[in-house]
Amino acid sequence: MRVKLVAGNWKMNGNLASNQALLQALIPALSPIAGVECVVCAPFPYLFQLQQALHGSSIAWGAQDLCQFDNGAYTGGVSAAMLADFGCRYVIVGHSERRSVFGETDKIVALKFAQALKAGLTPILCVGETLGERDSGVTEMTVARQLDAVIAHSGVKTLAQAVIAYEPVWAIGTGKTATPAQAQAVHAFIRNRLAATDAAVAGGVLILYGGSVKAASAAQLFAMPDIDGGLIGGASLIVGEFAAICRAAQPAA
Ligand code: PGA
Repeated sequence: MRVKLVAGNWKMNGNLASNQALLQALIPALSPIAGVECVVCAPFPYLFQLQQALHGSSIAWGAQDLCQFDNGAYTGGVSAAMLADFGCRYVIVGHSERRSVFGETDKIVALKFAQALKAGLTPILCVGETLGERDSGVTEMTVARQLDAVIAHSGVKTLAQAVIAYEPVWAIGTGKTATPAQAQAVHAFIRNRLAATDAAVAGGVLILYGGSVKAASAAQLFAMPDIDGGLIGGASLIVGEFAAICRAAQPAA
């Protein structure tokens, strides 16, 4: 039985004061939700704040990106080891905004994934198609290409230490959630594709859905057999919404 996981992706939002208020409200609201791992992923400067505020709570924390290289002469880079130093358990890798706005290629994403693993972090590997790709019928091909780049570099077995997030680009921040059936179809495709090479990895890996998940849509999405939780952007900044989404992931008693 796979556990459920709900991760908040704060993106480039917040400040010391607003984060503190959010965290102080989240700690009691999420403490603990049986069967659900709750995570928040903040911008780099606030990781120390997360470590201070969340240490000893039921909430895990992570970053939204990392450098593809080891420590050294990479001005502006933040290494996997640095994230581990601040108690991060997770790091988002290959988010569509990193790919489209910052030009991250499949190759760079594969290197970042490997760096995360090397430091003992759990990468949350994001994959997903644009609206154009969906309309031209290449959703599966796109997702397969993004996954294969990571598998070619690190091997399928490494997915046992990772989480996959299917995030259709057309659903991110647009208010247009994929229907549970649309999401389930791609999640099943991902799991079946992995099963073709490694059934144990395919059966165990968590596959999150992301893209305009709200408290009102979460339960139906999380009830689908291959959806193991969510990666939540906008709604993760609102205590009541995020807490309700985390509760919606709770397995039926
Ligand atoms: P959204 O973002 O929930 O605001 O659509 C999801 C994400 O980008 O991870």
